[in-house]
Amino acid sequence: MTNNLYQSLLEKLTAFHQEQILIHWNSLDEPQRMQLAEQINAIDFPQLTRLYQNRDRLFDAAALAERAKEPPAFRLECDGNAISRQDAIQAGKDALASGQVAVLVVAGGQGTRLGFEHPKGMFPIAPVSGATLFQIHFEKVLARNRQYGKPIPLCVMTSPATHEETVKYFAENQRFGLAESDVIVFCQGTIPTVSLDDGKILLAAPDKIALSPDGHGGAITALKKNGVLEKLSACGVRRLFYFQVDNPLVDIANEEFLGYHILAESELTSQAIRKQNPQDRVGNIVSVDGRLHVIEYSDLPDEVAERRKPDGSLEIWAGSIAVHVINLDFLQRQAENAAATPFHVAKKKVSYVDARGNLVKPSEPNAIKFERFIFDLLPLAQNAAVVEVDSSRHFAPLKNASGSPTDSPETVRKQISDYFIEWLTKSGVTVVPDVKVEISPLFANSAETFAEKVLQNGIAAMTKDAYFRTKDDLVS
Ligand code: UD1
Repeated sequence: MTNNLYQSLLEKLTAFHQEQILIHWNSLDEPQRMQLAEQINAIDFPQLTRLYQNRDRLFDAAALAERAKEPPAFRLECDGNAISRQDAIQAGKDALASGQVAVLVVAGGQGTRLGFEHPKGMFPIAPVSGATLFQIHFEKVLARNRQYGKPIPLCVMTSPATHEETVKYFAENQRFGLAESDVIVFCQGTIPTVSLDDGKILLAAPDKIALSPDGHGGAITALKKNGVLEKLSACGVRRLFYFQVDNPLVDIANEEFLGYHILAESELTSQAIRKQNPQDRVGNIVSVDGRLHVIEYSDLPDEVAERRKPDGSLEIWAGSIAVHVINLDFLQRQAENAAATPFHVAKKKVSYVDARGNLVKPSEPNAIKFERFIFDLLPLAQNAAVVEVDSSRHFAPLKNASGSPTDSPETVRKQISDYFIEWLTKSGVTVVPDVKVEISPLFANSAETFAEKVLQNGIAAMTKDAYFRTKDDLVS
């Protein structure tokens, strides 16, 4: 029986020059052989072969960069926007009040750069309470939910590396108050990791193929495959608010942002911050031949990044913070079109088991991981739009380990605290230096609602660290 299995697998693999996968077959027991066979049968070999053969021309960022122009956008300091701020806010409110909005957070990445052994969303980041990224996001959704009296489904995309622990964490914490039916956790797909030199699929163990998540663009197929699009559509959802787990300052389901998207009849709208320096490490939203694209900072040539407008400001100013609103019907269409978004190549150091069964830990990049990016949907979207937001109020990405000068736990905590101190000072409260402040969205989810509560309670000064979560916390 397993001899037959071996023969049929060998035949399949030989056709694609991947027979090395079976090199340890004789030393495997029955369950291990079955596991390996299952992994082999799940691979799309023609696709993988095509990807490796075309690895140098899958995505031509240089050609895009040459023709890149600044994108049209709803700017922060501009009276000439085609849609007024008030109209946008009203349209966003209407969409939330009629239950048209769901939320998607991508949480499949591992916190490698952060040096954290768990799913990144479980990192304690709040400056006073120590709440995790997940808790902060869940409470924001719950607060909107209460504000509009409508459930806002929260979809969480995990990867095989983060799925089980994430699911367990949500259950242990009763989903931070969200109803079970409103939290949809689904796992993204994977793709084999291949050797840089010859495209051979690497083994993570004698009975296991080295697989890596297929990028956040994998959300498009995973949402469909797991029945999430269908479920959301059946609940009347029409727009998906998308963000990354690593940004605790994201304003989930912000009304104004949703409103611009709706009134501009856009299928995909992205938030952008004004870049401070040409080399800022964010994706660049650009316009090429009338379509929007994102070019990663690492792919944008210096001479393009440094181009200036007559007033001295950067031409390529729009930094992507990976916050989008995407129409559900547009996603449905793209999910049916397997070739909709290109794959990108990431050259990485990947440990593997060699022909003798030894684990090799390379010191130089030895492997290719193929990934899709959600923002590659931008050029396909009708009326794709860009909305500028203030970086200090919307973007505090947690990327690097403690002690790093930027995007580290310390810098992010300070940014969160400074953001809330601004709410206090705006409300007329004096804040003593070095005091840390944190405001749970369950207490107030905007500076305006916070100010109303302060007014009712008459606080004059904040002299020690404060965490506002319930009504009683307001007594200083
Ligand atoms: C990303 C963006 C960049 C943007 C920046 C803002 C890319 C290629 N670049 O950079 O344009 O300016 O964020 O912070 O995305 N993820 C998955 N599954 C995967 C891979 C990633 O769910 O297979 C999730 C991660 O959990 C994370 C997010 O996607 O939430 C971003 O991934 P990461 O690799 O950290 O992107 P950056 O290089 O930081």
